[in-house]
Amino acid sequence: MMDKTASDTNPVQVGIEDGIGLITLDSPPVNALGQAVRQGLLDAITKLDADDAVKVVAIHGAGRMLSAGADIREFGQTPQAPGLPDVLDAIEASATPVIAVIHGVAMGGGLELALAAHARVGMAGAVLGLPEVTLGLLPGAGGTQRLPRLAPLDAAIGIITSGRKLPVEEAAELGLVDRMSAADTPRAAALAAARDVLAGDLATRRTGEIAITPDPAVLEAARTRLAQKRPALAAPLKALEAIAQSGRPIAEGLKAERALFLELMESPDRQGLIHAFQAERAVKRIPESDAEPRPIETAGVIGGGTMGVGIATALLQAGIPVTLIEMSAEGAETARGRIAGNLDGAVKRGKLSEEARAARLEMLTAEVGLDHLAQVDLVIEAVFEDMKVKTQIFRDLDRICKPGAVLGTNTSYLDVNEIAAVTSRPQDVIGLHFFSPAHVMRLLEVVVADKTADDVVATAFALAGRMKKVAVRSGVCDGFIGNRILAHYRKAADYMLEDGASFAQIDRALEAFGFAMGPFAVGDLAGLDIGWATRKRKAPDRPEAERYVEIADRICEQGWFGRKTGRGYYLYDDPKRPVPNPEAEAIVAAERERAGITPRDFTDEEIVARYMTAMISEAARVVGEGIALRPVDVDAVFLFGYGFPRHLGGPLNHADRIGAEALIDRIEDYAKDDPHYWQVPDLLRELAQSGRTFADLNADPNRE
Ligand code: 3HC
Repeated sequence: MMDKTASDTNPVQVGIEDGIGLITLDSPPVNALGQAVRQGLLDAITKLDADDAVKVVAIHGAGRMLSAGADIREFGQTPQAPGLPDVLDAIEASATPVIAVIHGVAMGGGLELALAAHARVGMAGAVLGLPEVTLGLLPGAGGTQRLPRLAPLDAAIGIITSGRKLPVEEAAELGLVDRMSAADTPRAAALAAARDVLAGDLATRRTGEIAITPDPAVLEAARTRLAQKRPALAAPLKALEAIAQSGRPIAEGLKAERALFLELMESPDRQGLIHAFQAERAVKRIPESDAEPRPIETAGVIGGGTMGVGIATALLQAGIPVTLIEMSAEGAETARGRIAGNLDGAVKRGKLSEEARAARLEMLTAEVGLDHLAQVDLVIEAVFEDMKVKTQIFRDLDRICKPGAVLGTNTSYLDVNEIAAVTSRPQDVIGLHFFSPAHVMRLLEVVVADKTADDVVATAFALAGRMKKVAVRSGVCDGFIGNRILAHYRKAADYMLEDGASFAQIDRALEAFGFAMGPFAVGDLAGLDIGWATRKRKAPDRPEAERYVEIADRICEQGWFGRKTGRGYYLYDDPKRPVPNPEAEAIVAAERERAGITPRDFTDEEIVARYMTAMISEAARVVGEGIALRPVDVDAVFLFGYGFPRHLGGPLNHADRIGAEALIDRIEDYAKDDPHYWQVPDLLRELAQSGRTFADLNADPNRE
């Protein structure tokens, strides 16, 4: 009989059944190993090990998983005893054999818990991993010492230094899991495996007692590989340093691991990476979250250009049948071919099986004429950025689509209110701004117009979830959150270029700061003609006082649009090794002269400071005006749509590191030369005066 000694609300429940001690982690939603769970585990193992009636102990998780590891919310706070390493050491030291059942997820400290047990049983569908490096940490509860004792060294290094998740079957092959269980529930698996131990059918041993000699050549090769990664993050290299200690007796190795872990805990990378992890989840908290999403079983995509094709691919990958509309039969066929090509790419990258690819393609129809969209639940319009074209399409959709269909526009800057206003159902109209390539980039800006219904917003967020995208709620303004901020700070790069920094220096400085590519290299990649068209469109509204740099226009006038034309700021004769285009440099020099500017030197530091200050300024305005719900929403937009360095946590997370007062000082200093461009945002002033931070605004429930 089960002898329950703890209440059901206890995060660690202990029971004894037929000589088997059962420990159940029950701390929803993910059985994170917070203080109460650690204490409960320690008490449980101490009690069961001391009980002569208990011959074997089995640990398993209630709910969806064994455990997602250490409780991330405790990081940065004063550590509360008992520490996880001590709890796991106690488990390993137990004289009574201990087994762990891995179901759902065993990640971070959750996997380390299983590694400290004396045998591991896996259940189908489980995933394992040590994702600590993705949070700027290393496995700090024995992972770097115990995992290499069970798996081959190169595999262990790969798992620990990449943080990747591995399916339980792979873990079993590597020796991390001793056997798979076919039981129906984790509890049943725990009992069955415990009986196997008692019957001598499942061997147990202490992982820490396995002696290994890590091959120095393998360690060295990994060190070289990791040092070459850009940006070079501290965590993977430190994790490797810890793994290198795994040949020592376990107690010594654990001590070394702990010291390295604590070092990383203090690093700013850790703060930024954890902010990024939390940002992905925080953006789901929206005012409309109580509304019931409308069911989306079918979708239509209008336009077979790059965006339409990418969006259709993303919908198909989420298992949603798509009707793609093009202007001609050939256009429709070409779009179908490109979608098939995208799905092939997903198969090649291991994201999709061959069978799934065929099934997805079956779900696609490519047609001519909007009438084919009469029955779809959702339409996403992705045609040319032109208000006249878009409003005509929405008038037609209003006539054609069934009542209740969600009508989305993939506009990247046009006024969604104006588009909604041409229909008789503005409540059904919403902006769904995807980022190119739409089947790869994770960001989706959900643009909520004045009359958009709550359940339409909720539908967009639910759809994003199905597509595994990060949806961020944005209000209506030119460019929404991301492109509006980009349009502003991009000018700062042009000003520095005209004032004397070279485009290559600006790109290099920002790449060294952490961006994958600098702004001029990005322009070349995206196509310089895109920015050119936007500048022409905005020219009539450009304020008299705004400084305008013509360098990019001069380059475009030559027909040089970047990579696709073989030259832009850089020459792409060898596409892998672009070099600065001397003729572009000559244009820069000529434009400086025409503008009467004597070029001056910039340090890399000043380049980064001006660029980031410009970005933060506009981001603060976007939050201050309520276009973004919270600072963290801006951070998520940049992390998931603009390649912002993840370890910095986003522009406004980074802003808190600089501090509101320091930012104001910078802006006031820069404003001496250009008071129109450099203005202190009201929100920044408010923060400086009240001593609050952007992080404080994130924590403010009134902003949800
Ligand atoms: N600590 C605290 N909260 C956590 C958490 C953790 N380790 N992992 C997840 N959560 C929270 C999430 O923030 C979310 O909260 P919310 O509902 O308030 O937004 C909730 O649990 C559910 O999480 P998800 O929405 O992410 O649920 P999914 O089912 O999509 O994913 C998961 C589950 C795969 C476990 C995913 O949550 C995940 O990757 N978690 C982080 C795992 C991790 O990085 N663990 C390592 C921690 S560091 C460590 O263990 C150090 C040790 O070595 C000493």
